Amino acid sequence: MHGFSQAQFLRAAGRPADLPPPGPPEIAFAGRSNVGKSSAINALAGRRSLARTSKTPGRTQTINFYRLGDAGRLADLPGYGYARVPLAMRAQWAELIGAYLRQRPSLAAVVLIMDARHPLTPLDLQLLGWLERRRVLALLSKADKLSRAEQAAVLKNVRAALPQDTEVRLFSSVTLQGVEECRELLEQWLGQPAENKKPPVKGM
Ligand code: GTP
Ligand code: MG
Repeated sequence: MHGFSQAQFLRAAGRPADLPPPGPPEIAFAGRSNVGKSSAINALAGRRSLARTSKTPGRTQTINFYRLGDAGRLADLPGYGYARVPLAMRAQWAELIGAYLRQRPSLAAVVLIMDARHPLTPLDLQLLGWLERRRVLALLSKADKLSRAEQAAVLKNVRAALPQDTEVRLFSSVTLQGVEECRELLEQWLGQPAENKKPPVKGM
């Protein structure tokens, strides 16, 4: 078992040097500010306030790691694309997130969260570029804000735009749509870490 229900806070890292030494396989939650990354972690863990969420974009400013027993870890990444964050801070985040996503050897998969109403922004595509051959689950979050027909349309469009081996799902932390299915998929991925074809850089 790789119980999401056992999730426990492990560490916050604000700089590459603060990252915990690589251990069990990790799943990172990435996406624009305010799309619902921290809320998704709470929904998957079945907990209200494991990860801190906020109406104000830019809430998560460090990479926050959670242990799932000894079997895996979750990494809640700071969001990108929030214009009101000072430039210097944005550069620091980009460096931290970029280094982490490109070089972390224990990174088993990335959950790219995009607001179902505004998917595939230029920054999302840049991030997908960093991921290269990593396993990716794209979640279309806040699906509760869309009608059934709109949900079906965005799911189809995003599937058509992304590589075939990218998993795409509708998700809502409010109605819990998609939560059980995502938990099952991620637990399966933690149980069988993919071969990352890109060799990891030493020291990350
Ligand atoms: P940063 O850490 O700032 O990058 O944000 P985040 O991506 O972690 O977003 P967070 O989980 O803090 O949620 C941002 C806001 O969106 C909060 O007000 C949440 O309540 C709301 N929210 C998150 N998920 C959903 C969802 O599925 N549906 C709706 N309607 N609101 C959501
Ligand atoms: Mg957050």
